[in-house]
Amino acid sequence: MHGIIPAAVLAIAGLAQAEWVKFNNSDLFPDVTYQGFQSDNPVTIAGSRNLQDSPPKYPSPWGEGHGEWADAYEKARAFVHQLTLEEKVNLTTGTGWKMDRCVGQTGSIPRLGFHSLCLQDSPNGVRLTDFVSVFPSGVNLAATWSRELVHSIGHAMGEEHRGKGVDMQLGPVVGPMGRAPEAGRSWEGFGPDPYLSGILASEAIQGMHSAGVMSSLKHAIAYEQGHFRLPYESVEMGWNITAPYSSNLDDVTMHELYLWPFADAIRAGAASVMCSYNQVNNSNGCQNSYVLNHLIKNELGFQGFVVSDWYGTWSGVSSILAGLDMSMPGVPEMQDQYSGRSFWGANLTVAVLNGSVPTWRLDDAVTRIVAAWYFVGRDEANETLSFSTWTKDTYGPAHYAIGDGLIHLNEHRDVRGNHSNLVREAGAKSTVLLKNTNGALPLTGKEKLTATFGEDAGPNIRGPNSCKQHACDEGTLAVGWGSGAPDFASLVTPDTAIQNEVSKFGGAYESILTNYASEQIDTLARRADVALVFVNSDSGEGQMVANNYGDRNNLTLWKGGDELVKRVSSSCPNTIVVVHSTGPVLLEEIKQNPNVTALLWAGLPGDQTGNAITDVLYGRVNPGAKLPFTVGVARKDWGTDVLYAPNNGILAPQANFQEGIFTDYRGFDKHNITPTYEFGYGLSYTSFSYSNLRVTKRPVREYTATQGYTSAAPNLSRSDVSSNPANHLFPSNFSMVPLYIYPWLNTTDLASASGDRYYGSNEFIPPGAQDSSPQPLAAAGGAPGGNPALWDIVYTVEATITNEGEVEGDEIPQLYISLGGPYDAPLLLRGFDRLSIQPGRSSTFQADIRRKDIMNWDTVAQDWYVSGYQKKVYVGSSSRNLPLSATLA
Ligand code: NOJ
Repeated sequence: MHGIIPAAVLAIAGLAQAEWVKFNNSDLFPDVTYQGFQSDNPVTIAGSRNLQDSPPKYPSPWGEGHGEWADAYEKARAFVHQLTLEEKVNLTTGTGWKMDRCVGQTGSIPRLGFHSLCLQDSPNGVRLTDFVSVFPSGVNLAATWSRELVHSIGHAMGEEHRGKGVDMQLGPVVGPMGRAPEAGRSWEGFGPDPYLSGILASEAIQGMHSAGVMSSLKHAIAYEQGHFRLPYESVEMGWNITAPYSSNLDDVTMHELYLWPFADAIRAGAASVMCSYNQVNNSNGCQNSYVLNHLIKNELGFQGFVVSDWYGTWSGVSSILAGLDMSMPGVPEMQDQYSGRSFWGANLTVAVLNGSVPTWRLDDAVTRIVAAWYFVGRDEANETLSFSTWTKDTYGPAHYAIGDGLIHLNEHRDVRGNHSNLVREAGAKSTVLLKNTNGALPLTGKEKLTATFGEDAGPNIRGPNSCKQHACDEGTLAVGWGSGAPDFASLVTPDTAIQNEVSKFGGAYESILTNYASEQIDTLARRADVALVFVNSDSGEGQMVANNYGDRNNLTLWKGGDELVKRVSSSCPNTIVVVHSTGPVLLEEIKQNPNVTALLWAGLPGDQTGNAITDVLYGRVNPGAKLPFTVGVARKDWGTDVLYAPNNGILAPQANFQEGIFTDYRGFDKHNITPTYEFGYGLSYTSFSYSNLRVTKRPVREYTATQGYTSAAPNLSRSDVSSNPANHLFPSNFSMVPLYIYPWLNTTDLASASGDRYYGSNEFIPPGAQDSSPQPLAAAGGAPGGNPALWDIVYTVEATITNEGEVEGDEIPQLYISLGGPYDAPLLLRGFDRLSIQPGRSSTFQADIRRKDIMNWDTVAQDWYVSGYQKKVYVGSSSRNLPLSATLA
């Protein structure tokens, strides 16, 4: 039986009704309510309320083919115009869990030669297959601060996905960003700064698209922890909850922090946006009309499609009306994975036939999908699907979930090309030098005895891919766990690479690859000229590792790492520590330890980890990376944390983002807390000086709110599509694959075809949801990314950076702005570059300030504005070392 999940009336939970942009939260947050800044109206600018709600926003904006999307839309509309109802439904719905070969696949349109779309993780390389590269993770890419490198890696990852036959790579990640330092999946993205995150995600997307695969910008939005993201997972872990947690945040925080990187990435052409598991102000991410219809599609003018996270679809009619365009993997819940039921599929057919979902909404969803496909040139890609997510065996079942037949599943195509060079380069260029006493680094290549310590330097003795989804911390840590972790085709460990290096110059080398052989460690450390200690701290998605459920329980090093450092350094006065971690760890003690002569954060460098760190240790690569997050002295210094225990009975746990925009360095700065290492910090083997700040004001047009209306929803339907259910039954003689999600009905009675026992009663269609007439444009909208005038360049800032040392090096000058208001962050990153400078030479750092970079969000006007406060610009080498400053006229 197919299509037996309720259609029209199901799961309206999450469609909240109330207003949330203006509220009085002064009881909870007395210091964040203040009187008018632009007008005389009292305005509440920040604060998160427990049980906050999310306003309904309908209808779902139809894609209009803005700007660069025009051509793709023209082709897509012509294509959609030919489709039958079932063919349209097919493109919007996954075929089930483990029913096809990719982590998610849509139905196909054989009549027109349109194959099923293959959607595959991950943001760091092709997941769950062989002969692919494991690229440095997002947090490492962020540490490079290099637009060019991130673009190249986006392209290389795109090539590998395309080479394997993937249509859409499920990345990059801009949420989670890292509100809480322990958050399990932050390493998949570009760190807690929205500006850095937005710029680098844009580069990654354009790189992927240039290789001809679609991107999926994820996860929208405020998915800042793993705990309680899905009720069934939580129940398995022993919590009794019935709904995903809600991230509660105010409108300013939404715009100035969490939505910010989405704006850049959508402007850069993101092909799809993946909505998130969590609720946003108590409305589920994948049916939150405020987020999907209003913010993403109206305000940010998104022209691509919204795909649900896997099992993140909570309803049929409600979700598509709220802006969801594709439901993955087609079945509703993990526990239901073998039921063959779907909120979409045949139920979408029912919902169109009974009028709950207007045809134009389905047409829009399909147009968006097909437009994205044309937009990246998928019509010219001819690589066939060559692998199966579910097995690496050459032969296996055609439909893995039911184990039928035996077909040639895996061609074992090697798609790595020469990408190991890029992985190695990015690994080295993302390694942050945090401490280097008296030039301990680089190593000279004359060390008589080099000793390496720590499990984190060696292999996982059971093999690099032996833990399911990499959910373990065995051997060197080069990637976190979960859907962001591809499998290693090879993994060069630090131990191997350092030993090779030492053998080149004829030194002696010994390593101890366990953290617990105390006696042997003491003995070796005493003899070593240099002791290299590798330690780590891991995290990931779902799954319990060493009692950490995705999110970390704390910020200390794993497997006794802190003890190992103490032990080795107490015997060797030249101890160099390398940290592999998914995010911040506490390093104050190591920083203060005089026997630790150098300290490096190497993050999650991917499959060339050993070669990359060796390049840095021996000075072939002069470290230039900077921390993309703050390293605090104590956990409490962040002022934000994961919600580890349900706080709302069996109902949705409430994660209240009470800190507003003050996450990471914005919080440390506001509260005057001195960190161990600040955001943007990183040393080099040379030194740089900053001079000669020049600020040029650029002539620009006035900022005006976008006005006017959209066109009416286009009518793309064929005139011969019948509304008679009899014409939408399974074709006669059709041989069904059990559990497969199909678009056809199994009976002409829509109520029984839906399988919804409440069919016809209790129906609720949100007011306006079916309206296809022209709709008002958002003041802050009007084009992909938002109002085009937001991107006007208002100032250009230049400074001279001089390499004062003896060796060539990279410097990352950073530009910060203070917006000047009492509720603004002291500093906001608003510009950066990575410059290679020869010794004794100077380079010009140039950064363009866009209009939006000096604006605040006005919750009343629902638009951006420039406040009257004095604004200042700062340039320097980190968020706390800013030698140059000027007032913005
Ligand atoms: C769930 C994860 O949250 C998402 O990031 C991933 O792309 C999908 N699963 C598919 O594996």
